[in-house]
Amino acid sequence: MKRLIVIYFSHQGEEYNKDHFEVLKEGFTAHLAKEISSLLKSHIFEIKMVHPYPVSYKECLALGQEDLQKNSPVELEKTKLDLKAFDGIILGYPIWFGSFPQPVKVFLNEHKDEVKDIYPFITSGGGTPAHSLDDLASSCPKAQIHPALSLVGSSLDKDDEQIKNWLTKNNLIN
Ligand SMILES: Cc1cc2nc3c(=O)[nH]c(=O)nc-3n(C[C@H](O)[C@H](O)[C@H](O)COP(=O)(O)O)c2cc1C
Repeated sequence: MKRLIVIYFSHQGEEYNKDHFEVLKEGFTAHLAKEISSLLKSHIFEIKMVHPYPVSYKECLALGQEDLQKNSPVELEKTKLDLKAFDGIILGYPIWFGSFPQPVKVFLNEHKDEVKDIYPFITSGGGTPAHSLDDLASSCPKAQIHPALSLVGSSLDKDDEQIKNWLTKNNLIN
């Protein structure tokens, strides 16, 4: 049996939900992460910033873009997480400007030598995982990147079968 951990980053705040903006109780990726972890009965870990992005979508957009452009060393909450204890990580993130948010980049940079297998799951506003998968391979050159699950954040409620099929295809559940 593989030792797995779901690791995710999600914006806590306002999101575009189908046809309007709304402050969500939890982000789309957080919701999906909990569903996957519950199906796998795995550990789960949230990448948290010391100074989280603003609730406002517009402000988050501006700061999120600035951090990516400047490759800012955003500060993450300290953790004793030892990824060597796991065979694989199920890594979840929202697509931000075609890639993953800066906190994910900083996290991967801190842990790249411990990561063996990565199973990415991605939510977006409708765009493709774009270059985030290439960026993932560059961030963790020693890791094996498995086929990704890519879903639209605001229609996750319709995607149960797709989630189970992805886990089965990756031999994570029977
Ligand atoms: C800063 C920012 C940048 C985004 N960039 C993209 C993008 O390039 N392509 C896309 O399809 N969606 C984009 N989105 C939408 C999110 O990927 C989508 O709403 C996602 O499901 C949000 O997940 P979360 O609630 O877990 O943060 C962006 C959202 C934010 C806040």
